[in-house]
Amino acid sequence: MKILVIGSGGREHALAWALYNGGANTVIVNPGNPGTALFAENITGDPVDIAAAESVDLVVVGPETPLVEGIAGLLAQKGIPCFGPSADCARLEGSKWFAKEVMAAAKVPTAMGRVFTNHVSAVDYLGEYPDKYVIKADGLAAGKGVYLPGTKRESDAIIEDLFNGSLGKAGASVVIEQRLSGREVSVLAVCNGTDAVILPSSRDHKRIYDGDMGPNTGGMGAICPPPDVPYDFGEDVRERVILPVLKVLKEQGMDFRGVLYAGIMITDHGYFVLEFNVRFGDPETQAVLPMIESDLAALFLAAARGEELPPVKIKDGASACIILASGGYPGSYSKGYDITGVEKVDSLVFHAGTAQVDGRLVTAGGRVLGVTALGEDIDEALEKAYEDADKIEFEGRYMRRDIGRTV
Ligand code: AMP
Ligand code: GLY
Repeated sequence: MKILVIGSGGREHALAWALYNGGANTVIVNPGNPGTALFAENITGDPVDIAAAESVDLVVVGPETPLVEGIAGLLAQKGIPCFGPSADCARLEGSKWFAKEVMAAAKVPTAMGRVFTNHVSAVDYLGEYPDKYVIKADGLAAGKGVYLPGTKRESDAIIEDLFNGSLGKAGASVVIEQRLSGREVSVLAVCNGTDAVILPSSRDHKRIYDGDMGPNTGGMGAICPPPDVPYDFGEDVRERVILPVLKVLKEQGMDFRGVLYAGIMITDHGYFVLEFNVRFGDPETQAVLPMIESDLAALFLAAARGEELPPVKIKDGASACIILASGGYPGSYSKGYDITGVEKVDSLVFHAGTAQVDGRLVTAGGRVLGVTALGEDIDEALEKAYEDADKIEFEGRYMRRDIGRTV
């Protein structure tokens, strides 16, 4: 099969690597990165034009923005199967309030919430207890649109900034929901419009510092599966969350074909969906895909065509992915430092923010590389991943040391 993967991060490197499957398929990545160039062809330019010119059998879309902007529809017009939902379905990620409405219709457990389009009523609703709520920009905000204020002064400022356009259109409506506490789990479901196959559960670590301190990042590491999550959790989420959502969408004339990612919190009162994404998570994908034994290309193509989904075979054991980041990330950081030691590593190394300059591999982003190791259990996977992560060096290299140790 000839497959086009759209994107340039660690998630897309992991997708391209899994789909390449040791040479079983030909993979093109648009635009790709120095890691994908090792086994695939990186092509820059318009993805729909590339898909048509290269006569690919399947397009796999990594990031959410092209999906929300409607790339699936453009590919459909050209008769090219797209693993990634239509713009209508992508509103599950593109509008937090749309996701809430679908969840209400599908009776999916989620935090109680309301949507606001003006400052006064939002501030009113928060009252004197803003620390009982979470404030979310309704639209796409590249992971920056969720706030957990501690004081009234803080929450007033957040609301004011959002309605003053700090996040542009994304903050024109604001969702305020009940704050929950518990353990977080990411569940990825491959959907063909009516049915879904669940991939192994995983857990991201979003904060920059050990002990889940400091600002949020794109994700500093992931484990798969989290040892504290019940074995059949994914199947329960399939029955109670994924299939009911697909049904509601279908009733409204929408066919979700792609990955539906449920960000879930397990609380003392059961589990609740915090958010949907309409694409793979990053870095979760870098930990989840290496755990899959079956042919992902066949699975994704079946999903894209709305055909029956083949079962997925999962490896025994566990995996861990450690992200190596540039010093200063998620704030400002310098780029262009030489990266050494990648060749000494036995684990998988997924590139995120790297560049090839005059034959040298250098840093080119906040999250630079992901190192993924498999093991008989999570402890072994973590030990190997850290051992290998330590072999890779660049100036300012930063990694969390407690991946898999916090919930
Ligand atoms: P989201 O982008 O909606 O997943 O939110 C990002 C992060 O904010 C989540 O991973 C949680 O850590 C936190 N979060 C979101 N919604 C809630 C909530 N209702 N209660 C507590 N924490 C939340
Ligand atoms: N790892 C979180 C996300 O991809 O949204």
